[in-house]
Parts: sequence; structure tokens; C-alpha cells
Amino acid sequence: MKNLVVLISGRGSNLKAIIDAIECGKIKAKISLVLSNKKDAKGLEIAQSYGIKTKFVDPSFFASRKGYDIYIAELIKKENPDLIVLAGYMRILSDEFIDAFDGKIVNIHPSLVPSFQGKNAQKQAIEFGSLITGCSVHFVTKELDNGPVIIQAAVPVLPEDTEETLSNRILQYEHRIYPQAIKWILEDRVNVKGRKVIVKDAKYGTIPINPALEDF
Ligand code: GRF
Repeated sequence: MKNLVVLISGRGSNLKAIIDAIECGKIKAKISLVLSNKKDAKGLEIAQSYGIKTKFVDPSFFASRKGYDIYIAELIKKENPDLIVLAGYMRILSDEFIDAFDGKIVNIHPSLVPSFQGKNAQKQAIEFGSLITGCSVHFVTKELDNGPVIIQAAVPVLPEDTEETLSNRILQYEHRIYPQAIKWILEDRVNVKGRKVIVKDAKYGTIPINPALEDF
């Protein structure tokens, strides 16, 4: 059985989408640990309600980011995960952490990367005047929100959009593409060649919405 470790900091709606996909058998895996850097992360309660082991590791006990990351890397190694899933994990990972799990960390970002990296990507899209934005699942590299892209969904920015309405619209697609990407990876269908990600036997097409989503 493939095994996931999920890192969160908050609400946990992407975590819930992944749990749902596991529960209904679309993803054949288990989550052995949900780890948070925030004590009150709602996602911890979601995980616990499904009997998933959770752990809060308090960053204030560590003198440096590197120290924190080395500590959580040791905890995570004990789980022997096939994939580490960042689901709203709001801390930049140190190079040491990324080296420890090279090629085995994925993230979801609420923009079509490389656009609008960092925080408040949806607000950035509105302020920029983009007509289209979206969400991306990508491998994590040492550059923030910039690793090889596995799947993206394009989402229109409507004239009347606020940060909240746009974020909610994008989030619906996050909940579709993240389980999809995880399923592909765990089925060993994903190959990375430089920046290019090749997914075996995925049906690709054109916009408006990535038809690869139909696979899921
Ligand atoms: C999502 O918008 C995700 O793209 C970003 O952080 C948010 C997390 O939301 N990285 P949730 O905790 O999964 O509900």
C-alpha cells in the first residue's frame, strides 16, 4: 500500500479532497501522518475524524528554519512515505528538507505557475488584471512555487470577482487536480525530464478546462 504524508497549516480542504479520493477508492493509498506547523489548523481535526495520525510541531521551539525542517524530516522518514503532499503548508522549506526527499514532494498553488508566486496569488491575479488564472500542482524544488508542473486547471477571472469569490472558484478545481496528480504519481505514471512532466496514458487536450481532469 502506497503511503502519503501530508503537511498543512490551516483549513485543510485539499487534505479533505485527498481523503475523499482515498475513501472512495480513486487513490489507492493511505495517509500515515498529517503534520502541521499550526496548533489550531482545522485540517488536523479533519484528519483525526478519519482516524489519521496527526502531529503539531511548534516552530517556536526551534532556533532556525533548518533545525525545524531537519526535525520534521526525521519524523517523516519514519513513515517511509512514497510522496509528501504540501496542502496549504505555509512555510518555505529549507534546502535540507528538499534534499532529503528529492523528487518526492508536491505542492498545490492557486495560480497558473510561474505566474503569481508566493502569498495571495488570487489577489495578485485580480490586481494584475489577468483574465484567466487557475491552479497548479507541481513538484517542489528549491525555488518557491516553481517546480515542474504536473497538472493545471485554467479558471476565468470575472469582472465582479473579489479575492474571495475568485479563491472559491479556483479552490473547486484545486480539489479536482490535486487528487488527480497524486493518483498519477502513485500509479507510477509520471516522469520528469528537466522541467517537463510526462504523464503516461493521460488524455490531454485544450483549454478552457484541462480535459485531463476527465480521467479522474
Ligand atoms: C489553497 O488555496 C492552496 O492552493 C494554497 O493554500 C490553500 C490551502 O487551502 N497553497 P486548504 O487548507 O487546502 O483549504
